[in-house]
Amino acid sequence: MQLLLLLALLSPLTHSQSFIEAISAYPQLSNFTALLLNDTSLTASLLNTTSHNQTILAPSNTAFLQYQTLTGQSIEAVDPNLLINTLQYHTLNATLNSQSLKSGATAQKGAVVGTQLIDTRYNRKGKLDESNIGSPGQVVYITTAGAAGKLGRGVESGLSGRQLRVGATVNAGAGTSTNMDLVDGTWDGGTFQIVDSFLTLPINCTTTIASVNLTNLTTAVSNVGKTDKWNSYQGITCLAPSTFIGTDLSTTNPDKIHTLSNLLGAHIIDGPQYTTTFQDGQTFISGANTTIKVTVDQVGLVWFNDARVVRANVVTNNGVIHVLDKVRCFCSFPWARGFSLCYLLVCADCCAAGSV
Ligand SMILES: *[C@@H]1O[C@H](CO)[C@@H](O)[C@H](O)[C@H]1NC(C)=O
Ligand SMILES: *[C@@H]1O[C@H](CO)[C@@H](O)[C@H](O)[C@H]1NC(C)=O
Ligand SMILES: *[C@@H]1O[C@H](CO)[C@@H](O)[C@H](O)[C@H]1NC(C)=O
Ligand SMILES: *[C@@H]1O[C@H](CO)[C@@H](O)[C@H](O)[C@H]1NC(C)=O
Ligand SMILES: *[C@@H]1O[C@H](CO)[C@@H](O)[C@H](O)[C@H]1NC(C)=O
Ligand SMILES: *[C@@H]1O[C@H](CO)[C@@H](O)[C@H](O)[C@H]1NC(C)=O
Ligand SMILES: *[C@@H]1O[C@H](CO)[C@@H](O)[C@H](O)[C@H]1NC(C)=O
Ligand SMILES: *[C@@H]1O[C@H](CO)[C@@H](O)[C@H](O)[C@H]1NC(C)=O
Ligand SMILES: *[C@@H]1O[C@H](CO)[C@@H](O)[C@H](O)[C@H]1NC(C)=O
Repeated sequence: MQLLLLLALLSPLTHSQSFIEAISAYPQLSNFTALLLNDTSLTASLLNTTSHNQTILAPSNTAFLQYQTLTGQSIEAVDPNLLINTLQYHTLNATLNSQSLKSGATAQKGAVVGTQLIDTRYNRKGKLDESNIGSPGQVVYITTAGAAGKLGRGVESGLSGRQLRVGATVNAGAGTSTNMDLVDGTWDGGTFQIVDSFLTLPINCTTTIASVNLTNLTTAVSNVGKTDKWNSYQGITCLAPSTFIGTDLSTTNPDKIHTLSNLLGAHIIDGPQYTTTFQDGQTFISGANTTIKVTVDQVGLVWFNDARVVRANVVTNNGVIHVLDKVRCFCSFPWARGFSLCYLLVCADCCAAGSV
């Protein structure tokens, strides 16, 4: 009642009032509604756009509670800049609803969606022309499929309401994923959906690799002195092997350092390359100037040469990571690049040893 009175007193109706009015109908968004009502400048900067094509990922009361439990402080108490950046990351620069997620290629492959997050601490993916995402703002990856390494079909989940809804997952920074309840709420600037945790802001490549527990890789990159290089690239795709079985990770002499350095270089690609636009047979050139052939198999699994993606589209501040099941085999013979002969020659035996 008080809220309606307050809204009625504020006129003319602006974007932010329209948004607050819309979300206040959802009891599970009462903490978010209170946050925005308490700080009008926050709302103004969050919804400062003439676009009618925004989608706000509204954090549920569960998200507020979880944030407090995990960090020991309430979201209201965090540094205002951090809060604004976080909310900008929750503001998608596109229309996203259950219909768009269920249709066409998006249903198969998920979607990479640009947000309003442009602070360079969290968004240094640069080189738009060398990526396949076309967004100046940092992105989230959204999928209705279950397994992350697979471009699979949607899963039905009846999270709330009588109707069975399509559930979705949002990949954000530091290897985190959040469940999204597709309520398809509307306001005069677009759509909103409900997420059950706050999106984590993206961090750099090697720290993200460590945060998804691939510490062997973090150590290897560090041992060859490439940590700063991987993190300072503006736009990089890191192919992150989850195991190094059979690979010599030692750096006891310059030769070994050189070999390992080349091996790791063969696992990076210029620009953020999300899996959403991958075509079977597509090739990339690695940081070690080797060819990487993409395979999208019949069941939607993605491969880089002979290594399978076990976890796709992990967002970093300077690009993206795809986690592989093993060290990728690669073609070191320039003359054979792009020919299947190369894969026959190289992949058959040498890969396990990780030789260059
Ligand atoms: C309301 O905002 C003020 C600052 O604008 C802050 O100090 C206070 O903690 C906020 N209260 C709640 C309940 O969010
Ligand atoms: C809204 O955006 C305009 C231009 O992008 C900017 O000049 C203005 O300061 C912004 N207003 C708020 C309240 O953030
Ligand atoms: C943007 O919103 C307008 C008005 O709602 C709609 O006509 C248009 O199709 C939308 N564009 C996209 C790309 O979603
Ligand atoms: C959420 O709102 C409830 C009811 O207003 C309040 O008691 C609780 O402290 C809020 N939780 C957080 C984490 O802000
Ligand atoms: C949002 O989309 C508009 C229109 O497509 C574009 O001009 C703008 O640069 C985008 N903003 C961000 C932060 O991505
Ligand atoms: C990393 O390992 C820790 C401790 O074993 C575990 O709690 C955490 O869930 C793991 N994180 C990921 C992203 O797998
Ligand atoms: C990467 O992130 C970590 C943790 O946030 C930070 O300590 C380190 O300085 C960063 N490195 C670069 C090159 O940005
Ligand atoms: C990778 O790390 C694990 C511990 O997380 C360790 O047991 C294993 O030996 C490492 N593998 C290699 C090849 O270094
Ligand atoms: C990469 O390999 C190609 C083909 O052999 C060669 O022409 C090019 O000079 C190499 N580039 C670098 C940077 O080594």
